[in-house]
Formats: sequence, structure tokens, C-alpha cells
Amino acid sequence: MKVLVTGATGFIGSHLVEALVQRGAQVRCLVRNKRRLGWVKDSPVEFVVGNCQERTSLKQSVKDVDQVLHLAGATTAVKEKTYFEVNALGTENLIQACIENNPRLKKFIYLSSQAAAGPCRNGGKKKESDPCHPVSPYGKSKLLGEQLALSHSHELPLLILRPCAVYGPRDKGFYALFKCLSKSINPCLCDHDNHISMCYVQDIVRAILLASETQTENGEIFFLSDGQDYRMEEIGDIFAQAMEISARQLRLPKQVLFGMAFFAECFSRVSGKPSIMSRGKVEEMIRKNWLCDITKAKALLGFEPLISLVRGAELAVAWYKKENWL
Ligand SMILES: NC(=O)c1ccc[n+]([C@@H]2O[C@H](COP(=O)([O-])OP(=O)(O)OC[C@H]3O[C@@H](n4cnc5c(N)ncnc54)[C@H](OP(=O)(O)O)[C@@H]3O)[C@@H](O)[C@H]2O)c1
Repeated sequence: MKVLVTGATGFIGSHLVEALVQRGAQVRCLVRNKRRLGWVKDSPVEFVVGNCQERTSLKQSVKDVDQVLHLAGATTAVKEKTYFEVNALGTENLIQACIENNPRLKKFIYLSSQAAAGPCRNGGKKKESDPCHPVSPYGKSKLLGEQLALSHSHELPLLILRPCAVYGPRDKGFYALFKCLSKSINPCLCDHDNHISMCYVQDIVRAILLASETQTENGEIFFLSDGQDYRMEEIGDIFAQAMEISARQLRLPKQVLFGMAFFAECFSRVSGKPSIMSRGKVEEMIRKNWLCDITKAKALLGFEPLISLVRGAELAVAWYKKENWL
């Protein structure tokens, strides 16, 4: 089995590459720069240079592979249009490259996001059949990526996965929360009872592998999470427990968060470096219900999450400490 992984140098992609290598798959990684291979630099894989924003650069990478696991994406960006150029048009470019250069492709998996579906407007958990209402530029770009991909589902075997918030070793998103906690601060929103889904990175990797092995209808979409319902403050408490520290809750009004995000965006534009804080991110944070239903993934992919938030937090903390991030 020969597999192309895009986004291989990233958080989830690097864990996926390791799992694929362990299973004996022949792995090819699409990378933007061979001098920036990050966590996968010593992996026994083939590296092909390409950029999802340039269709012609993708031709070599898609040739002769059985499957494409498309994880490349802009999760943070200096300019809003980058989300659309990478997540939406980049996905379209990769699919076109597959159609033109690999007519025998057996599967194309697009790692979308729960952000594409948007928050759950009612109580309960969002299902794949519910309408999508993304609230951030990131979420809107991931949804457009899904729609563009689906418009080609008659031309290639497509499957879409929508992970919730993912955490674990190498993650820089929740790392910001771990850093606050290390200063004994557990930041939370004022007057909010926010519920979110979470998933440990190795469970997401197992779900991607299951999806790659399982026969499904073309164009199926699956939410992925550990199946639990967490309150935002509870996550900080569980992470603090894993760090064996106590942290005081700091309740922030949403106006303060928007102000912080505005300054982070200004700094980001000056420095040219994307920030994890943005007004789009705050738009997501202030929504009350980010729960998704994984019944379909359990039934059709046989997905069973194995790592609880308590255990996952312990594993993440152990890794951050080993790498001197904490
Ligand atoms: N982390 C989460 O909580 C989460 C949740 C739901 C969905 N997702 C989705 O899962 C995927 C992976 O997320 P992640 O957290 O692992 O992200 P990440 O750590 O930010 O990694 C992003 C990857 O995409 C690559 N990339 C970015 N722009 C590219 C382009 N124009 N052409 C080719 N490659 C490009 C990056 O390569 P460079 O090394 O060259 O920058 C990197 O390997 C993304 O599509 C994201 O939307 C993530």
C-alpha cells in the first residue's frame, strides 16, 4: 500500500506518518520545504516537494499512490484569505492533480474539521446530517474545502473526516492553555457554560487509519471525538491535575478576548507570523455548544476512542516536560 500524506510535518500528520510506517505502509510525504521536515525528518519515507496552492507542483506527489490522506491545512494565518487559498482551493488543487495524474486512486481522505460544521445551535450533539453554520474564516474555508471536494466525488473515491479539537504531544494550540496553567491561571469565559468535544491525537490517527481501510459510500462525512461532553473550565482543571498543580480560574469577558485577539492580529501582521489568537478563534470560543456525535463513525468505521481526557492530558504533559516545553 502506497500512501501520500499531506500536512505530514504538522501536529496530526507527523503522528499519522509514524503510525503508517509502523504498519509497513510505503509513505510519501508532500512537504513545502525539505529543510523543514520537523518531526518526520528521520522517518523512513519519501519526501516530495509541493505546495497545495500551486497545482502544477502536486503532479509528482500524487502519481502511483493508492491513497491520499490530505491533512495539509492553514490552521492559523496572518491574512484571512490564506485560509481559503490553502484549505479550500488547496484541496481543489490536490483533487484535480489526482484526477489528472492518478486515475486508479483507491481513496482520498480530506481531514476537514468540526469548525466546518459550526457549533450546535440546539442542545445535544451535532450530527453529520445537520446544516453547517461555520462561525470563523477557518471554519468557512474548511467547509468550502468540503464542498469543492464533494463536487468531485463522482470522479474519485472521497471520504471526509471532521475531527473536533485535538490535543496531545506536539500540539501548539492547547499548549497555550498548558502554559497559562503553568502560571497558575486557568482562563475561562465569563457567563458562559461552554461544552466542547475533545480528542487525543492517537485516537484521531486510529480513526484516519480505520477510514482508510473501510469501504464506505463515496462522499461520506464523519465527526470524530472521544465521545464525551466537557465544560471548558473542566478541561483546564483536568490539564492542571495532569500537571500536578492548582490553577485559579480567570474569567474573561468576551470583549476582553476580542480586544486581545485584535492586538494579536496587529502583531501578527507586523511580524508576518500567524498567531493562535484571532477574532475568528474568539468567535468559535464564545459559542456555547461544540459537541459532535460520533455514532456514525462508530457504526460505519468501527471507531472506538481509547484515550480519556485524563489519560491524554497526562501523556501530553509528560511529552511537553520531556521536550522542555513546560
Ligand atoms: N489540530 C486540531 O485540533 C484540528 C482539529 C480539526 C481538524 N484539523 C485539521 O487537521 C489538519 C492537520 O492539523 P494540524 O493541527 O496537524 O495542523 P498543523 O500542525 O498546523 O500542520 C499543518 C500542516 O499543513 C501543511 N501545510 C500548510 N499549508 C500548506 C500548503 N499550502 N501546501 C502544503 N502543505 C501545507 C504544513 O506544512 P509546513 O510544515 O510546510 O508548514 C503542516 O504540515 C488540518 O487540515 C486541520 O484543519 C485539526
